[in-house]
Amino acid sequence: MSKIIWGINVGTHDSSITSIVDNEIVFAAHGERSSRIKNDKILPETTVRQALRASGNAPDKIVFYERDWLKRARQLYAGQYRTALTKPRVSSLVPLVSSPHWITSTSVAHHHSHAAAGYYTSPYRDAAVLVVDSIGEWETLTIWKGEGRNLKRVFSQGYPNSLGLWYSAMTQRIGLKPNEDEYILMGWAALGDPNKYKTKIFNDFFKPLNPNSPKIQFKQNLHRGCKDWAPELDTIQDYADIAASTQAVYEHVFTHLVKQTKKLVDSDNLVIMGGCALNCVANSIAHKAYNGNVWIMPNPGDAGSSLGAVLAYNKDFVEWKGPYLGYNIPGTYPVAKAITELKATGLVGIANGKAEFGPRALGNRSLIADPRGADVKDRVNTVKRRQEFRPFAPMILEEYADEYFDGPAGPYMQYTSKCRFPDKFPAIAHLDNTSRVQTVNKEQHPGLYRLLTEWMKETGCPMLLNTSLNIKGEPMVDTEADAQRWQDAYGVKVLTKGN
Ligand SMILES: [Fe+2]
Repeated sequence: MSKIIWGINVGTHDSSITSIVDNEIVFAAHGERSSRIKNDKILPETTVRQALRASGNAPDKIVFYERDWLKRARQLYAGQYRTALTKPRVSSLVPLVSSPHWITSTSVAHHHSHAAAGYYTSPYRDAAVLVVDSIGEWETLTIWKGEGRNLKRVFSQGYPNSLGLWYSAMTQRIGLKPNEDEYILMGWAALGDPNKYKTKIFNDFFKPLNPNSPKIQFKQNLHRGCKDWAPELDTIQDYADIAASTQAVYEHVFTHLVKQTKKLVDSDNLVIMGGCALNCVANSIAHKAYNGNVWIMPNPGDAGSSLGAVLAYNKDFVEWKGPYLGYNIPGTYPVAKAITELKATGLVGIANGKAEFGPRALGNRSLIADPRGADVKDRVNTVKRRQEFRPFAPMILEEYADEYFDGPAGPYMQYTSKCRFPDKFPAIAHLDNTSRVQTVNKEQHPGLYRLLTEWMKETGCPMLLNTSLNIKGEPMVDTEADAQRWQDAYGVKVLTKGN
């Protein structure tokens, strides 16, 4: 008899569900993809039904990704009375009531979910695990030691000191949306001077770092932002300089954390998790410090914690086969059709196979373009309604990565490296000539590998521009119907299957 365990993230933001059957991940998806509401906190019934179908039966156990009562206690402490006293909507789980067997439920701690999602999907059997986010129940920064199946917390820091909350506060300070637009601040940083306000920001917000402790202490509680900080800095260039300086301070503090993690946990391997693990520049610092022995599960934020919840409960590794775990659009990968469209128009959408579990499209819900030439970036940014300074990521045949880029690269766009030919490929290189490279090999995604191989044969270029199939502020395309709607709305062909 199969053992079916579900992990659930619902009620805060980025709802998601994961189903693990006999130690295999059979389904994992974000609620927003079905509801079409960005960062939806409600888990839609459609997503639950998809999980049910993929599992073959109702779950035996449901594991919630954080301790609800502990979180409510912190919310009350923080004065968030309305949030603390509102019950999360769990109506989406109603279909399970008709289950033929008794379903039990439990919960694990927020940071435990993060740590487990990273460690138990990693290729390591010993590792240091660094978790940095805004806030769970109380914890904001934890360090863990993974040894065999054992995962032990060796350092913990709590609210209100939070590197993530500070980064979100700075995001809001420059007019962006906190808890959502942090990646835009990261991109904006390339337009500013990182040294202009680095010292001021550090001194205004942080207490001095302790060379013998990972502890990060702040001079104020940043939970409600810092909108009044330095009101005289109010021009667009000021904002770019604040973004650049914020990122520089973040890297400085993150470097300290990596060093302290190395001191605390004797291991050659590092796992990074929590929303902060989406900061590609900081990840690259860790990559260097650990000689490349770094694993970041490609959905390191709270949405990935539905997976972590099950793994924290099971206390066991799963074989990581890739992030393609969501809604399935069946059919062969549309290689020939995509090449034809790329040659004719330079741009094509692909919605095929299982949707990516994570914030980045990695070939199955992607908008793909010819990366050569000067006008590609503007064209794709116009289609996607994005800010024009923002670059796109390249995906490249793994064997050519070193020839085109200098620095760390991997299959999930988690690091930055220097583009060796930024003038030839301005659409995939940032203003500082860096790129977030996605490498592709045959095992990881045979369809994408064929697409890039054929593209290379036709053009001599082993690389394509890859961005998510959505427009700014919208969830990615999920189903065939979404694909059709997207094609009709934005005038770019979206392919859902090959011949
Ligand atoms: Fe978190």
